Amino acid sequence: MRQRKVKNVEARLAAFSEFSVVDGKKMKGNWKNIFDNDNDIYMELGCGKGQFSLKLAEMHPDRNYIAVEGQDTVLLRALEKAAIAQLPNIKFMQAFVQDVTEYFEEDELAGIYLNFSDPWPKDRHAKRRLTHTKFLKGYATVIKNSGIVEFKTDNDALFEFSIREIKANDYEILEYSRDIHNSAFPSKEITTEYEDKFKEANKNINYVKFVV
Ligand SMILES: C[S@@+](CC[C@H](N)C(=O)[O-])C[C@H]1O[C@@H](n2cnc3c(N)ncnc32)[C@H](O)[C@@H]1O
Repeated sequence: MRQRKVKNVEARLAAFSEFSVVDGKKMKGNWKNIFDNDNDIYMELGCGKGQFSLKLAEMHPDRNYIAVEGQDTVLLRALEKAAIAQLPNIKFMQAFVQDVTEYFEEDELAGIYLNFSDPWPKDRHAKRRLTHTKFLKGYATVIKNSGIVEFKTDNDALFEFSIREIKANDYEILEYSRDIHNSAFPSKEITTEYEDKFKEANKNINYVKFVV
């Protein structure tokens, strides 16, 4: 997601500190304290401008959400929306996560969402894909028993790679579609910013939900 330069981005991010966590690694094992309840916690990795997690948080007040974004200027857009929404059950975190176990304790999460993750098309960059086995094993550690991962992408090659990785690790696939918006598919009502653009262009959107 390419962004225009934003002036004083750090100061502007600081103005939204109520909705964000500065040092996510320090929160490992203690995330429930910032929500002040024992509700299940879900995390979106690479949340972009935040539309998806904000909608989920609004729809499910009995669940907590952590939306993670690496790019500060993109996160700023998400925080502007969070300030309007004023939801108590969502926090944002700025980090380019390489290993989720640095941020979350074993079984701390109930699920992870990956939406339109960067495809990293070159073979030599395969380990950077958020559905590479290296990442999947981390998700399996931090997600509690019977927790889920949901992945949506317009990128057919990335999707096929991801399915191979899921199967190679014997994770159980619960739902699967190569074209969620042109089928009677249940999990399509909450969209992301990228998804809205691809949907408009009638590009098929792939989806898989699996247990790690
Ligand atoms: C293609 S955009 C999709 C954004 C959003 N999920 C959507 O569907 O509209 C991917 C986003 O993921 C972020 N990202 C990629 N890898 C990440 C990582 N390892 N940790 C945090 N954010 C990441 C990028 O900065 C970018 O904003």
